[in-house]
Amino acid sequence: MKTNAPLSPPSRRDFLRKGTITGAGLLIMPSGSLFGASAASNRLNIALIGAHGRARAHYATLQKENVVAVCDVHQDKLALGMKAFPKAKVYEDWRKCMDHPGLDAVLCCTPDHHHGFISNWALQRDLHVYMEKPLAITVNEARTVRETYLTKKHKLATQVGMQRHANDNFPRLREMIQDGAIGALKDVHVWGNRKIPKPGYLPAAGTPPDTLNYDLWLGPSPEHPYNPGYFSGSAGANCLNWNMYWDFGIGQMGDMGSHTMDLVWNVIDAELPTSIESTSPEQFNPDVTPVELTSIYQFPKNSWRGDLRVTWYQGGAMPKSPFPWVDLNKIGHGALFKGDQGFVVADFSKRLLIPYGKDANLTYYQPRAESDLTPPLGHFQEQWLQACKNDKPSETACNFEYSANMIETMCLGLAGFRAGDGLEYDGSQGQITNIASANEFLTKPYRDGWAMTG
Ligand SMILES: NC(=O)c1ccc[n+]([C@@H]2O[C@H](COP(=O)([O-])OP(=O)(O)OC[C@H]3O[C@@H](n4cnc5c(N)ncnc54)[C@H](O)[C@@H]3O)[C@@H](O)[C@H]2O)c1
Repeated sequence: MKTNAPLSPPSRRDFLRKGTITGAGLLIMPSGSLFGASAASNRLNIALIGAHGRARAHYATLQKENVVAVCDVHQDKLALGMKAFPKAKVYEDWRKCMDHPGLDAVLCCTPDHHHGFISNWALQRDLHVYMEKPLAITVNEARTVRETYLTKKHKLATQVGMQRHANDNFPRLREMIQDGAIGALKDVHVWGNRKIPKPGYLPAAGTPPDTLNYDLWLGPSPEHPYNPGYFSGSAGANCLNWNMYWDFGIGQMGDMGSHTMDLVWNVIDAELPTSIESTSPEQFNPDVTPVELTSIYQFPKNSWRGDLRVTWYQGGAMPKSPFPWVDLNKIGHGALFKGDQGFVVADFSKRLLIPYGKDANLTYYQPRAESDLTPPLGHFQEQWLQACKNDKPSETACNFEYSANMIETMCLGLAGFRAGDGLEYDGSQGQITNIASANEFLTKPYRDGWAMTG
């Protein structure tokens, strides 16, 4: 039906997409018209939240876009970030930064206790988001972010900073196992050996320097006294000074666990577990997440595999090697896939196929032709930037559906540790069904005035 209604002007986002679809350079617009200076060059207007530390790994990629806002609670770090993006407007409070006019996207490298909040606030403002790992630090944070994302996945591109996913080993493992290199997949073991034992939150020590807004650093987390020890790490590794404390992180589950479980998650096509059982030689410490932990997850069958058990080990706990001549302890962060015809042992860049039993001649398995291999992902951050501009925003490797499911699962392992007993989980409702009191471990206390929605 014809209508005389005037055509609504294309949005800035439509122009950015069109620029990508038709090829960079074909989008010709006078600079400054309609959508600001960036539209003509098909660049995104991005806010960088958390200006230094891990953010340095993103500077080179971000230089290709318009970083219009930079936010940090630490003036010295902000100044370092501003050297890379001198034209950006500076902010101290990410809640204000998020409302910078004309923003398209947010890239966030703050400490973990802000991640779920910043992700959800950004999605609610229709901003694309690249969030450093982990996406969230509680089950409920992960569920809130996923719920918002699922209503917007047709228009917003998201990615969690699990950049090892771009290694060729990720698709090769997925292909091998799904194509039957070890027969039917039965069991998966995945581990990390990093240990950062701490007795508890650091004691009060002095007052924060004038250059640090410690109140905003704490953000949604309950008050803990200032101690310079939270800030004394080298750039990009300072997270190892705070990510083991319950109010700031989830220890190895969110730290190396985000990367190592990704190696498995990319293969198994799982959503949420139906049961969780965690064990540790340690008692629950209300300040610090456990160093040594084993969490066993049961996942329901899907279209290509049966019910599956996945066991996560950290901090010294390790699976038993299927063969004494394979020393799994030599792999700091790795995975062991067990099928009914063999094993695959893998780290982030290598894999070892060990067929066993009477069919160990591998005749049951036909490796893919080179032409059928999954194409390389390319540059991990670039994949997100391209997705922000093209018609398939949800087709990033570690979008917020994939990543929220994974981190929700990891957080359930910690809930199981706190409950001290096996948990039955209803993922459709986000409820532990066998121990009602354990549902309190799916969330954590926040400070007044901070909410996930905003
Ligand atoms: N993908 C990876 O391989 C990888 C590697 C290292 C770190 N990380 C992640 O990057 C994040 C940052 O780690 P880091 O070691 O750089 O930590 P960090 O403590 O150095 O903090 C990073 C920056 O964020 C700033 N910041 C802190 N609170 C802020 C707030 N509320 N608002 C704005 N800025 C704030 C800090 O001042 C600092 O400049 C963590 O989530 C960590 O897990 C990922």
